Amino acid sequence: MTVMRVERVVYGVPNLEECVRFFTDFGLDPVDGGENGARFATQTGQVLELRDVDDPSLPPPVQSGPTLREIVWGGDSQESLDKLATNLLSDRSIYTDADGVAHTTDETGFGVGLAVSQPVTGRTNFPGSNRSGNVNRWNDPLAHPGRVKPLRLCHVALDIKKEGKEEAVAFYTERLGFVPTDRPAKVGVFMRAPGDTDHHTLLLCHRPDRNQINHCAFEVARIDEVIVGANDMIDKGWHEARRLGRHTVGSNIFRFIHAPCGGRMEFAADMDRVDDSYGPNDYEETPPHTIWTLR
Ligand SMILES: [Fe+2]
Repeated sequence: MTVMRVERVVYGVPNLEECVRFFTDFGLDPVDGGENGARFATQTGQVLELRDVDDPSLPPPVQSGPTLREIVWGGDSQESLDKLATNLLSDRSIYTDADGVAHTTDETGFGVGLAVSQPVTGRTNFPGSNRSGNVNRWNDPLAHPGRVKPLRLCHVALDIKKEGKEEAVAFYTERLGFVPTDRPAKVGVFMRAPGDTDHHTLLLCHRPDRNQINHCAFEVARIDEVIVGANDMIDKGWHEARRLGRHTVGSNIFRFIHAPCGGRMEFAADMDRVDDSYGPNDYEETPPHTIWTLR
């Protein structure tokens, strides 16, 4: 199987009502299938699921309180998914649910699911940008972007303990085929799903030396939407966790909001796109966190 993207993330929360309000405000669309909680979708059909923190069908939490319990990865076919699940069976138990989704856990204890990806096409008609020599918007004045609707859940960042970090990474690179892109030694490993061209689909970050959710990132169309999306969240009473900036590793423009389901949510835009000719790049000294950020 080629893993293409994040298909679903599942959080266990004690504060369902507050989390529903957060993701409604965040611009995700409510969808069916959340009988034991709530489900939301991105514009390209990825699901964010909220379940009760004590739901016995979820993998045990890696930290106390609300947190991420499982990432379901979307693959390109049932046949190759079955092959991958058979391989994983050699050293861990797997449960396949009524929808054909295989569930197990990674070396850290985060739930790992495997499902056939079901992408839908989101909005694509966004205004271009202009600069001398590269004009992409003619006779088309910009307007306020309106209600920001995240296009994609483009990456997840998980914090892991330093002890065993090599094994934690190897599960994704050797068993699921993830491709490392940048490896700052004191931070962790940025990697992309083999069927994805984003600089990273997953970050395993050992710097905090703790097992916990760090953040999920949602791609929006352009910098205007990073700013307006986060402005709207702040106007609704949610708290900014990191001001506008552009990362060094991945080059994405970002703005972070504290999330009541655990960790933070990132509005992201303009990340590096890479292919197999890129990296992996190893750094002993950690690159600066940002190219720039607001003062
Ligand atoms: Fe991120």
